[in-house]
Amino acid sequence: MAKLAPSILSSDFSKLASQVALIEEGGASYVHMDVMDGRFVPNITFGGPVVKSLVGKTSLPFDVHLMIEHPEQRIEDFVTPQTEFIVVHQEASVHLDRVISQIKELGCKAGVALNPATPVSTIECVLGEVDLVLVMSVNPGFGGQKFIPYTALKVCELDEIRKREELDFLIEVDGGVNLDNAKMLAESGADILVAGSAVFGADDIPGRCREFNRIIEE
Ligand code: DX5
Ligand code: ZN
Repeated sequence: MAKLAPSILSSDFSKLASQVALIEEGGASYVHMDVMDGRFVPNITFGGPVVKSLVGKTSLPFDVHLMIEHPEQRIEDFVTPQTEFIVVHQEASVHLDRVISQIKELGCKAGVALNPATPVSTIECVLGEVDLVLVMSVNPGFGGQKFIPYTALKVCELDEIRKREELDFLIEVDGGVNLDNAKMLAESGADILVAGSAVFGADDIPGRCREFNRIIEE
């Protein structure tokens, strides 16, 4: 059984709190927040003040995905009473072990993200240290892109390693997730599915969350 984490990247930012209330009403499990710096990825989104503005506006935990260079310089900006995961990119973290410890010392769960072309082997050493691995299934930077099929193999690979090594990190898939591929991803081992445009692009946002949950909770 997998959980749904709608990405507010595709929401209407002019009414962010009420958009988040809609996903909560629909039974989403996390609010996924895409922080982009215009350097690690071509787009710029928002930073700590926007994340903090949602504290107390929802009871959902925050899943903060940092697509930024030098994430170690910014971790504290995203620590709130509702921040469950802070996820940094392997490609943006020269001292990955250190930043994982930093996140955990600040009381959050630590995640590491892999771009589509980055192999699982690059994070093998830290799989016992992280709480979550985020498999990017599009090239990060924008919502509404098409799912890259080969990334599903990394979900299977991580699930196999997790079973073999008796590890307990969660597997999250992010990018191009929709009602057609959600079941396959959950069956491949994904625990959390991020969906931006497939949720916030729907006319009935709570209804779309319920549709996802029906598919991935089976
Ligand atoms: C992409 C972001 C995703 C994005 C997903 O860089 O990390 O979280 O919001 O959007 P969709 O579901 O539209 O691909
Ligand atoms: Zn994301």
